[in-house]
Amino acid sequence: MSEVTGSWLNDLPKVELHLHLEGSLEPELMFKLAQRNNIKLPFDSVEQIQEAYIFNNLQDFLDIYYQGANVLQHEQDFYDLTWAYLEKCHSQNVIHVEPFFDPQTHTDRGIEFSVVIKGITRALNDAQKQLDISSQLIMCFLRHLSEDAAFDTLTQAVPFIDKIKAVGLDSSEQGHPPEKFSRVYKKARELGLLTVAHAGEEGPADYIWTVINDLKVSRIDHGVRAVDDSALMLYLKKNSIPLTVCPLSNTRLKVFDNMSEHNILVMLEQGICVTVNSDDPAYFGGYMTENFIALADSLSLTKNQAIQLVLNSIEASFVDDIRKAEMRNLLESRIN
Ligand code: HPA
Ligand code: ZN
Repeated sequence: MSEVTGSWLNDLPKVELHLHLEGSLEPELMFKLAQRNNIKLPFDSVEQIQEAYIFNNLQDFLDIYYQGANVLQHEQDFYDLTWAYLEKCHSQNVIHVEPFFDPQTHTDRGIEFSVVIKGITRALNDAQKQLDISSQLIMCFLRHLSEDAAFDTLTQAVPFIDKIKAVGLDSSEQGHPPEKFSRVYKKARELGLLTVAHAGEEGPADYIWTVINDLKVSRIDHGVRAVDDSALMLYLKKNSIPLTVCPLSNTRLKVFDNMSEHNILVMLEQGICVTVNSDDPAYFGGYMTENFIALADSLSLTKNQAIQLVLNSIEASFVDDIRKAEMRNLLESRIN
């Protein structure tokens, strides 16, 4: 038993730094968009979709995730997807988000880059005005594709560069080492973008070293396999390099067999800047609150630990010091 309740965790102001917008596509919206766009889905009902969401590893999930994204065709579809996620955030007191989007999943199907980014950013702007949720957008490259394809995507992003804060790297980690993207990351940094990358989810701790040294990332997405390398753990702690950890994702994709085996709180107690995030909530059984609740249920999360996890997210976010102070003050005023 944990000293925190679900409603306390839901009320706690929170910040999300690892969320794939395409992974927030709920089955209900998938059906609605399929109907609107005249697309035949290989499922007959929401229940059938949910039954298909049993994964043994990352690739099992990715196959179904890319298939789901096919229903996204028009600017309004990307708006509706993003807005639904932001409304969910509002209902869970998430006050700042830094979502990822995967342009190649859409441009490879003939959807214009501008259609994707305009729909997403219109929803993010509306959320700032109507829901008081601030945001920064991160554009991911798919690592199973070539570096040339990533360069092409970066070129398409240039007219919209003021709407993008950072680049990231996602999709199949095993067999796709980060150094494949060294040059395109260098180009992104020259364009003024920050960098993050998925590393150490299924791949080895070595990949975490590479994204630090080669890709010069400000944060590591997942990074849970850092515990295999004590020198790396020391480095992460000394340099305050944040990890965006996704507990429900990690158990659904069998990175850990059980939540009780998850290492997030061990790393927290060791002084690593770990944060809680939902990754692909429509596929993994929960948004921010449910991820915190999972830690309470299986790892006896304490109030102080929950607060420290949020403080870590605020510190690790890509906003200026004024907004960080504002978020810390809001957190302070709401905890009791
Ligand atoms: N890992 C890699 N790629 C992804 C993920 C993930 O957890 N979610 C969506 N794309
Ligand atoms: Zn992810």
